[in-house]
Order: sequence, then structure tokens, then C-alpha cells
Amino acid sequence: MDLLPELLGRRARRALSNEALDRAVVSRLLKAATLAPSCFNNQPWRILAVERSQEGPEYRSLAESLTTANAWALEAPLLLVFATAAHLDCRLDSGRDYAYFDLGQAAMALQLQAQREGLYAHPMAGFSPSKLKSALKIPPELVPLCLIAVGKPGDPEKLAEGPRKSEFSPRSRKALGEVAFSGDFSTPWA
Ligand SMILES: Cc1cc2nc3c(=O)[nH]c(=O)nc-3n(C[C@H](O)[C@H](O)[C@H](O)COP(=O)(O)O)c2cc1C
Repeated sequence: MDLLPELLGRRARRALSNEALDRAVVSRLLKAATLAPSCFNNQPWRILAVERSQEGPEYRSLAESLTTANAWALEAPLLLVFATAAHLDCRLDSGRDYAYFDLGQAAMALQLQAQREGLYAHPMAGFSPSKLKSALKIPPELVPLCLIAVGKPGDPEKLAEGPRKSEFSPRSRKALGEVAFSGDFSTPWA
């Protein structure tokens, strides 16, 4: 059986158009995120959508929180904050806190829906959480773990040199046998 085209086609691209997205599209992306599975159906994801078109202080705060390496994301018509906290989901023995796992599942569901919609959705850890927290009224107990920049495909020629170089770089992945095993962890998947 073939792999899903959305999985194969998705890339963390940086050449985003600044064209605004329809609210219905954004709603579908958010809905897709909430269809992710979660431990005990706790649904620990909290997602804040900040649209560039609002031109409000929120988008500016998000922009200022980005690292300089993520300046390309300032074109994005939509920036999403994915946040959670351990107490919002199962906390089981041996350090099994599922909130972060389930937040990741929601983020992936959103990225696949974005791919399906012909959009780029690029996750980012390169930002300052402290700059975000007060400006966006993020409840103190939540950890803003990941931003996702979303937009229609833009012009890669407008990217700065670094991001332009990586825009069409081939996908790089470890060999399956380095990360998947058969029976026990001493036998790489072959
Ligand atoms: C949690 C997370 C944080 C990331 N942070 C950044 C970031 O701050 N800046 C960036 O340009 N890319 C970031 N990326 C994108 C990754 O570099 C990218 O997903 C990875 O190189 C694999 O490439 P692919 O998504 O195109 O397959 C991040 C991805 C994830 C999942």
C-alpha cells in the first residue's frame, strides 16, 4: 500500500505568501487538530490562532518572539501557538506525561490537513516563550511549546540566502534500521 500523499508531500517550507487565509480554512485546520487521539480523551491541546490581518499587538508580539533565524515566518498570514500543560492529560508512572505527546499528535493532524488544503505549515521551536506569555495572555500554567507558521506557497526567490538554500533541499531522514527495531531493541528493522 502506498504512503499517504499528504505525508509524502508535507515539508517544513519557509517560502510563505502573506495572502490572508479564509476563516473557514483556518477553522478546518483547527478542527483537524482536535480530531487527534489523546490519553483518556483528555484533549490537552490549547491552540491560539493569531492572524496577520488583525495587525494587532498580538501578531507583533509573536513576531518579536521569533529568533532571527525564523524571520522568514514574518510573512505568514497565520501564526499558531500550540500550548499544553502536564496536568491537562494523563500523568502515569515512570514519567509518562502524555500532554506533550498528544499536543504533538494534534500538531501533526493540523499539518496534514494544511497539506491537503495546499498550504505550508511549518512548526517552530525557535522563539522566546517568556516574550509570548504576557503579550498573548497565555495562562501561566500552560507551556507554549511550538509555533506553527501557516500560509499559501510563496516565492522562494524572496527568501534570504540561508532559508532559500534549504527550501528545496532533499528530505533527510535516518535509515529505518536506526530508529525502528524488530522483536527487541537489539535487532534493527530490516
Ligand atoms: C518541534 C519542531 C521545532 C522546529 N523548529 C524549527 C524552527 O525553529 N525553525 C525552522 O526553520 N524549522 C523548525 N522545524 C522544522 C524542522 O527543521 C523540519 O521539520 C525538519 O528539518 C524535517 O524537515 P521536513 O519537515 O521538511 O521533513 C521544527 C520542527 C519541529 C517538529
